[in-house]
Amino acid sequence: MRHEIELAYLGIEVPDPTDLTPFFGEVIGLEPGEPTGSGAPTWRNDAKSRRLVIERGAANDATYLGIEALDAAAFDQVSDRLAAAGFPLTPGTEDDRAERGVARLARTVAPWGVSVELVGGLEDAATPFSSPLMPGGFLTEGVGFGHVVFATTAFDESHAFVVDGLGLAQSDWLEMELAPGIVLEVRFYHCNERHHTLALARAPFDLPQVLHHVMFETKDRDDVGAAFDRAWATDLGIPNGLGRHDNDGTFSFYVASPAGFQVEVGFGARVITDDWDDNRRYDRISSWGHQPLRQP
Ligand SMILES: [Fe+2]
Repeated sequence: MRHEIELAYLGIEVPDPTDLTPFFGEVIGLEPGEPTGSGAPTWRNDAKSRRLVIERGAANDATYLGIEALDAAAFDQVSDRLAAAGFPLTPGTEDDRAERGVARLARTVAPWGVSVELVGGLEDAATPFSSPLMPGGFLTEGVGFGHVVFATTAFDESHAFVVDGLGLAQSDWLEMELAPGIVLEVRFYHCNERHHTLALARAPFDLPQVLHHVMFETKDRDDVGAAFDRAWATDLGIPNGLGRHDNDGTFSFYVASPAGFQVEVGFGARVITDDWDDNRRYDRISSWGHQPLRQP
């Protein structure tokens, strides 16, 4: 299928980045990446130098999202499309590019309040990825590092930004009645074979965090189970135990990070094909499981 962009990195700002070190390193099974030029700790789940950047600050939320264009033509095309959709990009400085470890960078602010950075040439790490806690490794080749889900009251503008600006295509959507008159709406978007690289939830009011969760996909089903055991052995919240999503078929669980946002670890998602024609409404999140197991 058409594949010109993929998820490059996520920037998260928390009061103390070291609070997240045991979580990402010992529960999720990521490996530390090279600190950025300004000294922010980073995490990686593949051969790229960094996939999560944890910065010190008051936001306690995601603050930027990197989208990698796979070549110069793709970079220009996405840049032009964003400008035409009303989101002109501002070129980054040499310092910005060095800080992110990229060859090219331009940014704008998405309607959900997070800076979106279109980048090219995301640098590789000096060493291969190897995590003793994730022996099978993570699925990232050609599909980016995972997926991210944001909740926003600016839902319709955000949908337009993603589809008309970034050029992602909607994979399918969820409309689920949580209680009489209260409907959960989530739209899922792809830009490569990954079922969704980005999803948006319609928030009824402004929530404390726009980042609902970030997802890492394993190559081995057992690595999800082992990660669940590690999460269970902590006192972290488990908003959703093991289960299977109805739309993308992922076998996964969700653990609450010490900063509040959640991390999903999953396996076996459906793959988007050239002839994808399943852009349809689902009325349940999961075909089984994903029970709320433990409050933070
Ligand atoms: Fe997810």
